[in-house]
Amino acid sequence: MNKWWKYAVGYQIYPRSFKDSNQDGIGDLRGIIEKIPYLYDLGVTLIWICPFYRSPMDDNGYDVSDYRDVDPSFGTLEDFKELIKIAHRYQIKVILDLVLNHTSDEHQWFQKAISSKDHPYQKYYIFKEGKMIDGKKCPPNNWKGFFSESAWSYVESIDKYYLRIFSKKMPDLNWSHPELRQELYQVARFWLDLGCDGFRLDAIAHLAKDLSFKDSTINIDHNGLAFDPSKFSNRPEIFEYLKEFKEEVLDHYDCMTVGEVGGGANVLEGLKYANYQNGYLNMVFNFDTCWSNGAYGSIDKKDDEIVTDVVNLKENFKRWYDGLHKKAWLPIYWLNHDHPRVLSQYGNVNYRYPSGSMLGLILLFLYGTPFIYQGEEIGMSNVDYTRLSQFKDVGAQNYFQEHKEFYEEETILHTLRRTSRCNARSPMQWDASAYAGFSEVRSEMDVNGNYKEVNVQRQQHEKDSVLASYKQLIKLRKQYSKDVVDGSLTFIDLKDPNTFSFLKNNRLLIITNFKEEAIKFTYPLNEWQILFNNYKEVEYQDGIFTLKPYQALLIELLKENNS
Ligand code: NOJ
Repeated sequence: MNKWWKYAVGYQIYPRSFKDSNQDGIGDLRGIIEKIPYLYDLGVTLIWICPFYRSPMDDNGYDVSDYRDVDPSFGTLEDFKELIKIAHRYQIKVILDLVLNHTSDEHQWFQKAISSKDHPYQKYYIFKEGKMIDGKKCPPNNWKGFFSESAWSYVESIDKYYLRIFSKKMPDLNWSHPELRQELYQVARFWLDLGCDGFRLDAIAHLAKDLSFKDSTINIDHNGLAFDPSKFSNRPEIFEYLKEFKEEVLDHYDCMTVGEVGGGANVLEGLKYANYQNGYLNMVFNFDTCWSNGAYGSIDKKDDEIVTDVVNLKENFKRWYDGLHKKAWLPIYWLNHDHPRVLSQYGNVNYRYPSGSMLGLILLFLYGTPFIYQGEEIGMSNVDYTRLSQFKDVGAQNYFQEHKEFYEEETILHTLRRTSRCNARSPMQWDASAYAGFSEVRSEMDVNGNYKEVNVQRQQHEKDSVLASYKQLIKLRKQYSKDVVDGSLTFIDLKDPNTFSFLKNNRLLIITNFKEEAIKFTYPLNEWQILFNNYKEVEYQDGIFTLKPYQALLIELLKENNS
């Protein structure tokens, strides 16, 4: 299957914090247009832009109030058309983030739905009567949503609850209603007709819910709420919906789709979503490789307990590769806008260049289409925020509310600096001028305090920079695309807790040291040449490499049976 998206080098843009062109402190579409030459120069051939539709921004754009318009804070539809035109001129494809699981409560469908007791638009959402417990009105069941609250909200005027697995301003859509599905297909066609090249499908794993709406018995918290994503994730009906979506919309365009399959989709489900033969999407993001350092839910842990489990990381990548290769394709990524910075997760801020470039090498040579997240290519790291108000995210704010009764404020803030998605959302660091060149005015999200040392402009002039290494590695990926894209992947020393090494197509050898100290790695070689090294030298004797902290090597084996 020689599809263009297999050869693409993806880059994710969170428009709010990428580049502000009109100096209002909010990134926008014109800001993206301005930076297209930068992306081209980096070697990117595909961008995924997070939502910029009209929205009250309760969840920074994932709460859509009008699917067919650009939010004024991001620009206009004309800007969007221009963006597509210019990106295409630079041979960069553009995919949009399509949010089909929910709308904003300010969307006209929802507004109509709650305008009278039994309004027909209620069928677009999931409305239920509450339960009376001890004379008190309670939600229909004990489900807890993703943002630390009950998955239900009450509308007094109609005396009903609606399901919302994210924030209370994001009511879930009812995909079992055919008319609703048709409306959403029209939305997808609208953007494809405007020239976009496909979609990242937000929260796609949650389209179908357990319609029995029974209480869950697992993960019950101190408020009696049960966090049980199986009630609204990866349920069988989704595949029927996606089949219809594909047949009615996607099959009629040369577009690509990458679904976000949260809720713990496993490899078999991944295959169901995206297998070449009769899958519905081109690939799906899983989250299995995002938290291999134990940082998730780590409020009770000390910093030194957060350690990258290299074996676990390799095993997770391997499990997906073993299950999917020859049958389905994968997106590869270290982080997105919902995660902490990978340099802080798996790298080391004291070894920014070596560890950042090491992570780049792995990302760009594993199996799948790589997605670089804005700022990753310069080794941006977690934020240094000290006040709750700096965490501009409904998830972080709810997390604080949930924990404040049991923990000191500073403990919660420390956990947010470690795990919050605000880490990925601080303004892109373009240069050392005020506000990091993101804007000329203060933006709503504070810039990371390290921007004078860590920024694009500075790294553009340094040979040994994370940016230079990403550029070089992208070039190499393209040069060796037959091996990287089409070749096999063989992990080496899977159980070694220090190194992450693998072979591509028995020709390219990737060796990396995940530790802060020198590590020995045995791999006897005959004829070989180094294509990439993030240190000046390589120490190799009698078949043994002595790797420096976070050393990363890309080696071409010039003769077969080298090992
Ligand atoms: C997943 C998105 O990546 C996240 O940012 C958002 O909050 C939820 N879906 C809800 O749309």
